[in-house]
This record gives sequence, C-alpha cells and structure tokens, in this order.
Amino acid sequence: MTSHAQNFSAIPADRLPALLRGMPKAELHMHIEGSLEPELIFALAQRNGVAIPYASVEDLRRAYAFTNLQSFLDIYYAGASVLLKEQDFYDMALAYLQRAAADNVLRTEMFFDPQTHTARGVAMETVVNGLHRACVDAQAQLGVSAALILCFLRHLSEEEAFETLEQALPHRDKFIGVGLDSSEVGHPPEKFARVFARCRELGFHLVAHAGEEGPPAYVWTALDLLKVERVDHGVQSSKDAALMRRLAADRIPLTVCPLSNLKLCVFPDLAQHNIGALLDAGLVATVNSDDPAYFGGYVNENFVQTFAATGLTAAQAYALAQNSFTASFADAAAKRAWQDRLQGFFEGF
Ligand code: HPA
Ligand code: ZN
Repeated sequence: MTSHAQNFSAIPADRLPALLRGMPKAELHMHIEGSLEPELIFALAQRNGVAIPYASVEDLRRAYAFTNLQSFLDIYYAGASVLLKEQDFYDMALAYLQRAAADNVLRTEMFFDPQTHTARGVAMETVVNGLHRACVDAQAQLGVSAALILCFLRHLSEEEAFETLEQALPHRDKFIGVGLDSSEVGHPPEKFARVFARCRELGFHLVAHAGEEGPPAYVWTALDLLKVERVDHGVQSSKDAALMRRLAADRIPLTVCPLSNLKLCVFPDLAQHNIGALLDAGLVATVNSDDPAYFGGYVNENFVQTFAATGLTAAQAYALAQNSFTASFADAAAKRAWQDRLQGFFEGF
C-alpha cells in the first residue's frame, strides 16, 4: 500500500476536479429551503395556487443578485411561501438528496426553518413529517444518511424560539439538533442563551451561524454562552488570533460555504477566500453549499470552484473530506466506515 503523501503528490492538478467530485464527503451546512430551485418554486406555486411576484423562472433567477445576507434572505423567505403540504416538503428534500447522492455525499445534516412555515399557518408536523420521510427514503433508495437540524430564526424573539421548541418536541425523534440562522448582525447568540440551555438539557446537538457577517465576538459567545459543538460559517474568526487558537485547540469545526460567501459579498472574490488559511491554522474546516439553489451550486461545485480559485491541493481535499465526517453528528462506527471509504477512494485514484 502506498502512503497518502505519495498518492497526494502524484495527483496532477488537472485531475483535481474529478478527485473532488468523486470523493466521499459529508455536507453539514445546507438549508433545505435553500435547495428550492426556481423550477420547483414555480411548479409548487401552480400546484398550491400560490401567487409569486415573478413572471417566469428566468425572471426569478434574475433576482438572485445579492449584495449582502439580508438581500438574499428577503428572496429566500418569499421562495419558501410556496411550501404548504407535507408532500411539498418531501419533494423539496428528496430533490436535494438526489443531488447530494450524485455528488457522492454519504451523510448530510440538513437545516430547516420551521418558523418560516408556522408563521404562514403551516403546522409543525406537516414540515417535520415531510422532511423526515424524505430522510428515511434517502437512506433506503439512495444510500445517503440524512438527518435534520431545526434552526431558530434569530431576527425573531427568544420567546418565539421557545414556542417553536415546544411545538417541535412531539417530533423530537425526527431531528438531531438545533441551530440559529437568519439576520446575524444585531442578533447576537446571547439573545438565545436560555433556549439553547434548554435544548442542551434535552440532549440535542447544538450549532449556530456565527461570524458570517457578524464579528468574532459572536463566535466567542456562540462557543461560551450557547456552548455550540460546531460554528456555521465562522469565517470572520480569522480576524481574531486568540479565537483561532481556541477553535483549533478545542477542535470546533467550521462549516464553511465558499459560494455563499462569494454571492453574499463576504469576500470580494473566491481567490481571496480564507479557507486555506483556516486549514493552515489547524482548524477543522469543511466545505458546504448553504443554499445551493440560490448561490450557484451544490457541494461539488463549491469544492471545484474553490480549489480552482485558491489553489488548494489534493492533500487539502483529503483533509476537508476527512473533516466533514469527523465533524458530523453520526455515530462513531458510521464515521469510521465512511472514513475508510474515503481512504480507499484516494488510494485507488
Ligand atoms: N445565513 C444566515 N441565515 C441563513 C443563511 C445564511 O447563509 N441561509 C439561510 N438562512
Ligand atoms: Zn447557512
């Protein structure tokens, strides 16, 4: 058996895209509502008799010119308004899971935003049951291990987050953790300290978006007050050397989303993305798609474009895929099996 180092240096740069596309991986940061393709938005609008303020698929796609997080969120929430029935949630999730399988994703932990739906009169059980049924079918039909993480919308109150948790608890066997998303600046993690403490007592895994547009201080409070196990985005952490040392020492994974950061103008271009610096600092960084229907690509597209722009190497591809399984909330035996497949893939490449 040849060593990894030999294998990595033997892989020429022109074979990197095939390596990236073919390697087994986990996706740990994607919002299922952000996988709604314009074609499916129009199909569901018609099926449900929902009016949307766009004349055509092309017209809607043209609106995807974002300047920051909020300019995206306004369109993202409008797109989700076509989701009414359990079957809608199932169809959306299964479409994503098929794409994930095609990208050689073996494990995905999908965010969902129940408040976006309950605020429109859709029942919690409609949302959770549709998404969960797709997760069950993904394992059986596609061989993809899929789990759900319930996100609280941080622009709403902590009281509303507590109400959402209460509504979700009858379905607690259908999601593995909770997260925090939506408008970051002005809504620091500490606003949700008590609801996260309750979720911790209940045994849920904890994650939060922090340091996407917000400052390193929000990453500190996500760690110290919310006690999250992973940080979603976290790219602003590189502005704080002490925070970088903390993330490395505690092996807190960052779920980085390069094309999202590009489209929301967090970095001016992909070549200036700090994913390489995060890896070089010893952080458990991963690559993910965030909202693939809105940001120009699923997870493989994120890998291929990021490597092309930043010059990351085959060794770093291995590290990112390895990190994705390490950072997942799957059980240790499943992680080991996926990491063995990853190693076999690299040895045979
Ligand atoms: N950031 C915050 N909230 C979100 C995002 C994001 O990138 N995508 C969907 N909700
Ligand atoms: Zn996100």
